[in-house]
Amino acid sequence: MLKEIFEQPRTIENAMRGRIDQDEATAKFGGLNLSVQQLRSVDRIVLTACGTSWHAGLVGEYLIEEFARIPVEVEYASELRYRNPPLNDHTMVFSITQSGETADTLAAMRECRRKGLPSLSICNVVGSTIAREADGGIYLHAGPEIGVASTKAFTSQVTVLTLLALYLGRMRHVSYPSGQRLLRQLAAIPEKVEATLACNAAVEEVAKKYFTCRNFLYLGRLYNFPVALEGALKLKEISYIHAEGYPAAEMKHGPIALVDEQTPSVFVVPRGHIYPKVISNIEEVKARGGPVIAIACEGDDKIAELADDVIFVPDVEEYLQPLVTSVPLQLLAYHIAVLRGCDVDRPRNLAKSVTVE
Ligand code: M6R
Repeated sequence: MLKEIFEQPRTIENAMRGRIDQDEATAKFGGLNLSVQQLRSVDRIVLTACGTSWHAGLVGEYLIEEFARIPVEVEYASELRYRNPPLNDHTMVFSITQSGETADTLAAMRECRRKGLPSLSICNVVGSTIAREADGGIYLHAGPEIGVASTKAFTSQVTVLTLLALYLGRMRHVSYPSGQRLLRQLAAIPEKVEATLACNAAVEEVAKKYFTCRNFLYLGRLYNFPVALEGALKLKEISYIHAEGYPAAEMKHGPIALVDEQTPSVFVVPRGHIYPKVISNIEEVKARGGPVIAIACEGDDKIAELADDVIFVPDVEEYLQPLVTSVPLQLLAYHIAVLRGCDVDRPRNLAKSVTVE
C-alpha cells in the first residue's frame, strides 16, 4: 500500500500522458468511440461504481457540472443494476472501476447497455471483463494495484475525470484561455503530489497520537466532501476503526452528538471560497471537546491555532484539491493500521476485486 501511495506522482502523470491537446486547450481520448455529434448531444451523465471508485465518481460529478454544465448523477452500481432510471439517447453512462471485474459494476453496465446505451468505462485493468465488454472507455494506466485499499487508482480516476470534464467543457462553455489554465494547473499536479508525500513523517506522528481511538469523523466540503468519505473508508478497511465521512456542515444534523474527547475529527480544510465556513464547523467541534486533525494548506497559520494537529499540503486550485488532500488521508490510514498491528495489504474480510454480488 505504501509503495502504491508513493507511486502517485507518476501514476497521475501516466493518466494524463498522450491525452493533452495543447493546441486546442483540451483533452483527447483515443478509445471513447463516440462521435462529436453524440458527445455534443449529451445532456445527462450517470457515473456508476462501488467503493473508492464511487468516491472518485463524486469528485467527477462536481468537476463535470462545473466545467461542462452537464447534470451528473453518481449511482452505486449495486443500486443502479436493480433500478429503472430514465435513460435516453442523450444520457451517457460511465462505469468507473479499478479492477474491471466488480460484479455490481459489471451488472449495472450490462443493464444500461440492454436499454440501448453505449457502455463506457473508466478502468485500470486492461483486458478485464468490463474493459472488454465496454463499447468505449478510458484506461487509467496506473499499473497493477495490489493493495486491497485502493489508493493510486483513486487519484488516477480523478485525473481522468478532470480531463473528461475539460473535454466536454471545451465542447460547450469553457473558453480557450480557461482550458489552457486548467491544463497548466493539472500539469503541475504530479510535482504537488510529490511535495505532499513529504508529509509522511508528520502523518506518522499524528497516527501515534490517535491510533488507539475507536471512532473517527472525517469532514470536508465541496470537492473535499468525497475526500472525507474516502479517508473514512481507508481507515475502516485497513485499521478496523469505525469512521464516518460527512460534508462538514451536516455535523449539526446529527453526527455532532458523537463528538467527545476520544473521537477525533479529521477536517479537510484547504483554502477555498468556503474556507471560513469550514473553520466555523471546526469551532463547533472544538467547543464540544473533540480533538481536531486538520489537512490544510501550507502557510495557513490560523488553522494551527485552532486544530490540535495539522498536516500541511501544497495549495492548488479548489477543483484539483482531491488529488492532493486524499494523499495524507491514505497515509494516516496506513500508519494507524501499522501501529495497530494490522496487515494493511490483506485486511480481513476483504478481497481486491468483489466478483460476487
Ligand atoms: O475494482 P473496483 O474499482 O470496481 O472496486 C470497487 C471497490 O470494491 C473498491 O474500490 C473498494 O472499495 C476498495 N477496497 C476501497 O479501498
